[in-house]
Amino acid sequence: MKGRTDIVIGVQWGDEGKGRVVDVLAADAGVVVRYQGGANAGHTVVVDNEKYVFHLLPSGILYTGKSCVIGNGVVIDPDTLFEELDGLAARGKKTAKLVVSHAAHIVMPYHKIIDKLAEGARSEGTKIGTTGRGIGPCYADKYERIGIRAEDLVNPDVLRDKLSRTLKIKNDILTKIYGADPLDFDEIYEKALAWGRRMEPMLGDAFLEIDEAVRGGRNVLFEGAQATLLDIDHGTYPFVTSSSPCAGGACTGSGFGPSRIDRSIGVAKAYCTRVGEGPFPTEEMGEVGEELRQKGGEFGATTGRPRRCGWCDLVAVDYAVKVNGLDGLALTKLDVLDGFDEIKICTAYEIDGKIRKTFPSSCAELAKAKPVYATLPGWKCDISKCRTFDELPQAARDYVKYIEDNAEVPVVLIGVGAGREDTIRRGL
Ligand code: IMP
Repeated sequence: MKGRTDIVIGVQWGDEGKGRVVDVLAADAGVVVRYQGGANAGHTVVVDNEKYVFHLLPSGILYTGKSCVIGNGVVIDPDTLFEELDGLAARGKKTAKLVVSHAAHIVMPYHKIIDKLAEGARSEGTKIGTTGRGIGPCYADKYERIGIRAEDLVNPDVLRDKLSRTLKIKNDILTKIYGADPLDFDEIYEKALAWGRRMEPMLGDAFLEIDEAVRGGRNVLFEGAQATLLDIDHGTYPFVTSSSPCAGGACTGSGFGPSRIDRSIGVAKAYCTRVGEGPFPTEEMGEVGEELRQKGGEFGATTGRPRRCGWCDLVAVDYAVKVNGLDGLALTKLDVLDGFDEIKICTAYEIDGKIRKTFPSSCAELAKAKPVYATLPGWKCDISKCRTFDELPQAARDYVKYIEDNAEVPVVLIGVGAGREDTIRRGL
């Protein structure tokens, strides 16, 4: 029998609490795959009541007997990868088998430096608010075909050749464009060789690991980082990350054909947040935003930055359903809305005096969008003890149903509190 394959994707601008859904699905997955992004992500995983935050490692890493795959679509900062592995070893944790694709690109020291210099040089209004983890510059080199891949770290001659050519370009950029100091070839080369020595046993044919698991009847979970609206193609460009978090990215970022994906599950907060710059039609700058931020603990896992907060945007949810082909939605942090008398939910945008219900693919259009709200009654009580849908107060059920009816996909999981057990499962 063939194993089941699921993709978990963020619906909004990241930080939707994908970890909760990943936890549920990772428990019976044989392989957990990261397919895009890098150490810009921050995934919180709770196993046996212990909390772990991973930036690069797939969430299945704490389960011995499983395999974890870092696919070709990921950009790897080896220092972060080893730090995470060493951190687990220091806590006495055994880890899953880890397979790193030969084709994954490496975040080099110059990528992180250039990421920060480029961000610093952008004028107000054009800043992206990157995490400074070198993600954009690393993907830029991949597409420019001057990147260093994981396989190069274990081929000293190839590495020497590629690095010397690439570093020449990077040093020109550093010195001539930014007036910064050039980087030393030998230092980076030796560092990269040391990374390669440690990474060599992990390198493998990542796509085969996945293929064999599915053929052998083991489930595979593709764990998305960031989210739909941060996708390089489908997100709010240029205020996006540089990878493809959308469902299609799971296929290209791991070497797995789309016809073999069984389910794509989108994770959305019951409200909406964003870190970094860019349009956010339902953003609440006043008291409501502050209340959501404080109650929801909305501060970045990777950078600690306060997140921008606002009401749930069904126009964006509908867009995520369409571009990812979502089969179900997981609605997280519903309890954060417990104290509100009324809850607003965006059902359409007004752009230049016209009402539209579909998400504009033009960022310039989105920047002009004014939210059109429906107002639903709040439930004004603690829902964190509810474990079935029927236990939720009527107003909370109506809110969930409103989202379901508009998105035209079922809400298969609801988060009602901070603990992993504070979850209502409805078919997932
Ligand atoms: P980069 O991925 O560091 O290049 O940052 C580009 C944009 O994506 C910035 O607005 C970041 O704040 C945002 N971003 C990157 N990773 C995450 C994430 O894991 N959660 C939320 N936002 C993210």
